[in-house]
Amino acid sequence: MKELLKKLSETYGPSGREDEIARVIREEIQDYVDEVFLDKMGNLFAVKKGTGTKVMVAAHMDEIGVIITYIDKNGFLRFSNIGGVSPFIMLGQRVVFANGTVGTIGMEKLDDIKKLTLDKLYLDIGAKDREEAAKLVKIGDIAVSQRQLVFAGDRAIGKAMDNRAGCAVLIQAMRELGDTNNEVYAVFTTQEELGLRGARTSSYRVNPDLGLAVDVTLVGDTPEAPPMSVELGKGAAIKVKDNSVICHPKVKEMLTKIAEEHQIPYQFEVLTAGGTDAGAIHLTREGIPSGVISIPCRYVHTPGEMVDMDDMESAVKLLKTFLTQPIEMDKIYPCAL
Ligand code: CO
Ligand code: ZN
Repeated sequence: MKELLKKLSETYGPSGREDEIARVIREEIQDYVDEVFLDKMGNLFAVKKGTGTKVMVAAHMDEIGVIITYIDKNGFLRFSNIGGVSPFIMLGQRVVFANGTVGTIGMEKLDDIKKLTLDKLYLDIGAKDREEAAKLVKIGDIAVSQRQLVFAGDRAIGKAMDNRAGCAVLIQAMRELGDTNNEVYAVFTTQEELGLRGARTSSYRVNPDLGLAVDVTLVGDTPEAPPMSVELGKGAAIKVKDNSVICHPKVKEMLTKIAEEHQIPYQFEVLTAGGTDAGAIHLTREGIPSGVISIPCRYVHTPGEMVDMDDMESAVKLLKTFLTQPIEMDKIYPCAL
């Protein structure tokens, strides 16, 4: 899975420009499913047919980036954010466009660094003037961090672990899926970082009985981190709540039971800020019971995002076991009244 994760992480794919990452994922998964297709929003569907419960598992494949808004006469580029981009993180970074153009980010003279905002930054692509710059980059082109994924022991460091780590887990789970009647829609969604947009339309199309998302989550185990109980290396995280969803208690229970029964390391997650695709899925049509398997990740939304390969393994095991066993929907919708 290390190789797969490296390949996915290093592939270009900001929100709204997911063609290349979708192509790479399609290649990695198509031999293991019955059907693969794209929709009009760019979501990639990989389907394992069945007559049982229909489950949709979403992993967003987009990553954060910067979008060019202006080119000055000296050839410097100004930009705005695609998703949650911090100016402090961007300063000094190397970025790359879809056509391979690279650049480095500098800042205007600033007396107080605390006042750094994205509009004080500029991108230098080595162009001598506006004309030369415009040959390489157009207004509206999007760049992402240019960073190789490396391994520090069993921990991966790289860009776009949010959410290529989730994509790797979903691909691997589909590859290892056991015999099951469940109909499984693995959906690699677009534009999550802009507000769960791809998940919204894809879940309407699939109309699943049950929804799951696989995404990274924050951790509380680094120096002076805000208190949070999720730790790197302590297993897959079963989400209870974030800002987009309260996970269906029965779905959370089912995941927990599987983890207990199969001795899969797990931890509960309450994320006080941020959301994930389950936020869109569970509000589809008349409501869809949904849960989330999260991968603990340090330094989210930096080019040095870190995940632990043991956590990745735990997430794969939890997901594939959940998808393989019979899912009794009447246990999720009890007739209590
Ligand atoms: Co994100
Ligand atoms: Zn994410």
